[in-house]
Amino acid sequence: MSDILNVALPKGRLGEKVYDLFEKAGFPCPEIKESSRKLIFENPEAGVRYFWVKPSDVAIYVERGAADIGVAGKDILLEYDPQVYELLDLKLGRCRMAVAAPKGYKDDSEYTLRVATKFPHIASHYYSSMGRDIDIIKLNGSIEIAPILGLSDVIVDIVETGTTLKENNLEVVETVVPISARLIANKAGFKFKREPIERLVKELSGTITED
Ligand code: PRP
Repeated sequence: MSDILNVALPKGRLGEKVYDLFEKAGFPCPEIKESSRKLIFENPEAGVRYFWVKPSDVAIYVERGAADIGVAGKDILLEYDPQVYELLDLKLGRCRMAVAAPKGYKDDSEYTLRVATKFPHIASHYYSSMGRDIDIIKLNGSIEIAPILGLSDVIVDIVETGTTLKENNLEVVETVVPISARLIANKAGFKFKREPIERLVKELSGTITED
């Protein structure tokens, strides 16, 4: 069987940083930097085939074995709990999952808390661990608008620089969990391609720096 590693990279700014890390670790595929539309790139000498996928889809490709390994945010891993191995924290794309609300908001535990989020599983788990009743409002983006328009009391969302919250007069109430990009592997692929995967993990480990 070919030992070429199929690697799902998250398309976008994070993916470019991730590719740079793989390149530094000795798995280059320079063509990847030359095309903005092509999605699959291969360098048999380096033993890698990269493909760009939507960040939230990386774990699906890896879980189903279309990719041997990939890079996914801890937020996606916590939300969807894909059956993959988490091998390494790449310390890229660092941000946090947080509860945020309009400035000055005070929670009243007599009422069911209305929570708008793209991450219903993370939000439910977080509040149920505190025994707090909530009503989840699942949205797909621009979550910050929900409390402004009275659709929800708070949001549970990714905060990176904090600019989106600030520009919409919201503030962090609590941090739920820190987030960063993780190297993940397909479970069967990890058995069959253990040697190249372990070599990659070793090389990447020596290349990771604080973001
Ligand atoms: C994410 C997140 C926040 C924003 C946080 O949204 O949902 O809205 O980034 O970043 P900041 O703290 O640096 O301002 P994304 O850009 O993924 O778009 P979305 O609203 O469509 O989810």
